[in-house]
Amino acid sequence: MLITKSPNNTATAKLMSVPEPTEDEFNLFRKLVQKELGFEWGDDKKYLLYSRVQRRLQKNKLQTFQNYYDFIEREENKSERQYLYNAVTTTKSEFYREKKHFDFLRQNIFPELKKQASIRQHKLRFWSAGCSTGEEPYTLAFEAHDFFGASLISNGGLRILGSDVNTEVLEAAIQGAYTEEQLSSVPVVFNKRYFNLASDENNPHHLIKTEIQQLIQFRHFNLMSSKYPIATKFQLIFCRNVLYYLQPERREFLIRKLVDHLEEGGWLVLGITESGYSIDKMEKHSISIYQKI
Ligand SMILES: C[S@@+](CC[C@H](N)C(=O)[O-])C[C@H]1O[C@@H](n2cnc3c(N)ncnc32)[C@H](O)[C@@H]1O
Repeated sequence: MLITKSPNNTATAKLMSVPEPTEDEFNLFRKLVQKELGFEWGDDKKYLLYSRVQRRLQKNKLQTFQNYYDFIEREENKSERQYLYNAVTTTKSEFYREKKHFDFLRQNIFPELKKQASIRQHKLRFWSAGCSTGEEPYTLAFEAHDFFGASLISNGGLRILGSDVNTEVLEAAIQGAYTEEQLSSVPVVFNKRYFNLASDENNPHHLIKTEIQQLIQFRHFNLMSSKYPIATKFQLIFCRNVLYYLQPERREFLIRKLVDHLEEGGWLVLGITESGYSIDKMEKHSISIYQKI
């Protein structure tokens, strides 16, 4: 990194410029993210690679994407791969995203789970697979807390797993701090009930309350792994806006794994744009919601 003097004579850091990846360089990364994350990258993703990953080359003082590829291939630099995964994953999320799913939850899934509650001794187990910065598992927690009531879900009555391959978003999810704007889709009554306003005047934000936070366990793992570090079966799995980025065979692989981790009668919710699958052992309901039969 070069240090230069700016016109007002203060020292500023000037980052070396990085040339865009060549076709061959792009193809190396295309194959890597396909193998490791299951992503299907069209040619249009060349700019994504450049814009999101160039700072990692700068940080490691590497001049070309080929140099960076060789760098992360070395065993001693394996940890750099995580930075690459953090950079190339698309992590957009929001509270109550695709709200129809939460309406369906209240009208159909939760009442059914409540009826079975005594059979399962009140042990509700939900999973948000590809949970990003936490809005999805937290929305599930608000809805469950409101529907089932604190007494039913406390003391292990409800546990929600939030998992992601991106460590940066998981750190944000664990922190559970959101701006006013991020809360705009949360019903006002829940805003008051489930968040505390942090007192930091320079950086006003809302913090998820402990009673909600303790329902959720965030874990880092790759959905493309052959074995997941999970012993539980779930009644409900949300895996929304994850399949969209995957190669067709990897989508099938992931759907099979998710179905395996569902209890009989359990529900799988995919993203609204990810409808159109006919899945073995699953009955399709509306808006990309499936039930295991
Ligand atoms: C677009 S976000 C969707 C977040 C949330 N499910 C929603 O719909 O609002 C997709 C998330 O899936 C995660 N993801 C993508 N591929 C993954 C993989 N192979 N294993 C685990 N997480 C993955 C990304 O890191 C990202 O946080």
